[in-house]
Amino acid sequence: MRIYVAKDYHDMSRKAANIVSAQVIMKPNCVLGLATGSTPEGIYAQLIDWYNKGDIDFSSVKSVNLDEYKGLPRESDQSYYYYMNEHFFKGINIRPENTHIPNGMEPDSEKECARYNRVIESVGGIDLQILGIGANGHIGFNEPGEAFEKETHCVALTESTIEANSRFFENRDDVPRYAYSMGIKSIMQAKKILLVASGAGKADAMYAALCGPITPAVPASILQLHNDVTVVADGAALSKI
Ligand code: GLP
Repeated sequence: MRIYVAKDYHDMSRKAANIVSAQVIMKPNCVLGLATGSTPEGIYAQLIDWYNKGDIDFSSVKSVNLDEYKGLPRESDQSYYYYMNEHFFKGINIRPENTHIPNGMEPDSEKECARYNRVIESVGGIDLQILGIGANGHIGFNEPGEAFEKETHCVALTESTIEANSRFFENRDDVPRYAYSMGIKSIMQAKKILLVASGAGKADAMYAALCGPITPAVPASILQLHNDVTVVADGAALSKI
């Protein structure tokens, strides 16, 4: 595991964007595993900037997103579909047919999870998976639990995640209670993983993930078993390590 200490959020975003950009330049038809949340916004903004300067081309890149709220229509400004278009896809030349996000409007969880597992398989595996981390150690929407969920599954969000994500919604009651998430096996099968974190609110989660026991109670702790993880985080997020 390589850990890069960034000066601040901007520096974290630039350093992480450099890693994504190197991946796309080395393998123009790579598969990027993409994350949502506020942490990767700066990475996407930086990549858009480099795309506009002609430094990076996404025309052959494929993407698979980690997760999506269940029950939110795509056009809802809180759906991850909307987020990805707003923060990244509309600013670059990735082909819409090459981007994949779980369909939050499919009510049949079994059907949607099976479909998304096939999607992950059909793109041929993830070259570089970007991950944020929840304050409770979740990755994607793999919440703390009794066992690591292997493949795409429907998750009942924990109270702490609902609380944390309510900052994006008008009312706490508007936060969906369920989500579809890529599983731990799919994440761990990515060839490379890029974990990003910023701010003191992530310090406990980062300590537990990187230095604590490997346990499904801290889903991100499984990353200790992956052989190519790069962490880019600011000093505040790494303050307990
Ligand atoms: C959400 C997402 C995660 C993300 C986490 C942290 O729950 N499903 O993928 O890593 O929030 O988000 P933020 O970066 O906004 O702190």
